[in-house]
Amino acid sequence: MVKAVVLGAAGGIGQPLALLLKANPLVTELSLYDIVNTPGVAADLSHISTQSKVTGYLPPPKGSDLPADDGLKKTLAGADIVVIPAGIPRKPGMTRDDLFKINAGIVRDLATGIATTCPKAAVLVISNPVNSTVPIVAEVLKKHGVFDPKKVFGVTTLDVVRASTFVAEVLGDLSLVSKVSVPVVGGHSGVTIIPLLSQSTVPLPSSLDQSTVDALIKRIQFGGDEVVKAKDGAGSATLSMAYAGALFAENVIKALKGATGIVVPTYVNLSAHEGGQVIQKELGSSIEYFSVPVTLGPNGVEAINSLGSLSSHEQSLISAALPELQESITKGVQFIQAPK
Ligand code: NAI
Repeated sequence: MVKAVVLGAAGGIGQPLALLLKANPLVTELSLYDIVNTPGVAADLSHISTQSKVTGYLPPPKGSDLPADDGLKKTLAGADIVVIPAGIPRKPGMTRDDLFKINAGIVRDLATGIATTCPKAAVLVISNPVNSTVPIVAEVLKKHGVFDPKKVFGVTTLDVVRASTFVAEVLGDLSLVSKVSVPVVGGHSGVTIIPLLSQSTVPLPSSLDQSTVDALIKRIQFGGDEVVKAKDGAGSATLSMAYAGALFAENVIKALKGATGIVVPTYVNLSAHEGGQVIQKELGSSIEYFSVPVTLGPNGVEAINSLGSLSSHEQSLISAALPELQESITKGVQFIQAPK
């Protein structure tokens, strides 16, 4: 039995993500929460002929005697996995960090519901800026004494999905895409997104000139901007993100149910894991959160794997990313530890 929850389920990501989770035979119960429209989304999905029971909740109406978190708590009760795509998306000209002001508070409140209702659930954070929202979730859980670093994940799968697609495009053969896997490490914002192209499972030809490689790295780092620009004010990636989020959720669910050997990049706490401490040493940094290839297991993060052998260019990309990443992490931690 697996109960999956989507918080922000009526949104651009939330709806197709809920659809993909409803279509997933591993999910036996799907519960949806948003501040609008979830009863409709849940009713619609509930007609799909898969086994999962679907429910949708809202906050209580204005003037109700019910506590403000009543709908949220009903949604979260008994959850095994909680996926969070709640919050505002980017518009042209915005960075993910510009979203902090609004999304930080939304994620804090949702994390509080998780801490008090389903503290053992795996929490998958999609809301941006992921570099800060994952530390926010962790700090809220710590405050309630229920933080399990094995269970809190920043979803960076869209970067991995984009890397596979864009590398296959450069190779000139999209049919290769299912064979191309590139670890993407660091964080989830601009230059903090670091695709380790030297470790692509389908190697790039050595004849490829450096400017093509540089352009490919830049496209993976700033692929989100292509979508924001094309949507022209109507938001950011939703369908590709729903696909990526469902893929990552499925991997977590499979591992929770006992599948072994699943290794995926995700943004996690480093210092709580032996492998994470090794990476901190390699990086020469005490950075607390980083996207790394993680082996998943029945308790969440089973092990944090090595970054592998890095080219000197990749090493310099990581060094360049660390200050921005550190700043975003500190901002998230401070938001909970020392709110202004
Ligand atoms: P959207 O605006 O279409 O949907 C967001 C939903 O969150 C809305 O339905 C809204 O009502 C809901 N919401 C707002 N406050 C809430 C609260 N307190 N509780 C529950 N729900 C609440 O936005 P979209 O496009 O779905 O994006 C959602 C988030 O995902 C954004 O922060 C965006 O930046 C992020 N994102 C992350 C990616 C990643 O790779 N991790 C990729 C693309 C987007």
